[in-house]
Amino acid sequence: MKNLFIVANWKSNKTVSQAKEWLEKVESSKLKVQSNTYKEIILCASYTLLPDLKSSIKLGAQDISPFGPGAYTGEVNGEQIKEFADYVLIGHSEQRKYFHEDENSIFKKVKMALKYNLSPIVCVQNDKENINPKVSFVAYDPAFAIGTGNPDTPENANMIAEEIKRKNKDVQYVLYGGSVNAENVHNFTSCLVIDGVLVGGASLDAKEFLEIIKNA
Ligand code: PGA
Repeated sequence: MKNLFIVANWKSNKTVSQAKEWLEKVESSKLKVQSNTYKEIILCASYTLLPDLKSSIKLGAQDISPFGPGAYTGEVNGEQIKEFADYVLIGHSEQRKYFHEDENSIFKKVKMALKYNLSPIVCVQNDKENINPKVSFVAYDPAFAIGTGNPDTPENANMIAEEIKRKNKDVQYVLYGGSVNAENVHNFTSCLVIDGVLVGGASLDAKEFLEIIKNA
């Protein structure tokens, strides 16, 4: 039986009431899960939304401080995140582009996530990046495909996923992200080596996200 991970990345979107509305729609819809596939849904939302979503769905943060608790104004540390979430996205290309995320900060953040028992989902641009050997989840999430409507081809994404697993023996799951929607999701989830998807824009609308889960 193949496990599939459908990860929603809301980015910097939604107020508490908008988040609750989305959740109600998703929760009230009874999804028919295919018998040969188990689909795990993980929602990566802004810190401000996590307390209100906590009891209903598996949650992830979208970033983590490279430091522990202490005098780091503006940062949210792993101990704080762990109160609400089990996962954390690290190294997303938007963090690299706008906030100078690099290999060094990714390394520190992964260490912090692991210290506080969070599962890091490390976002990479290709199969050549160094990945901490204790990481189980990697998302191949190339910048050219994010928010552009031009996803990578399933064949290439599968090849990259295969390479990532070959080079990093402890990586159990490789997800694909970048312009995934209800129409194309199955092209990726049906690939042999791809274990799920990371969905940005198309996860914001509950109806579309439900379609993605159904079609995955
Ligand atoms: P997108 O974003 O689905 O809007 O392309 C994906 C991502 O940022 O991981």
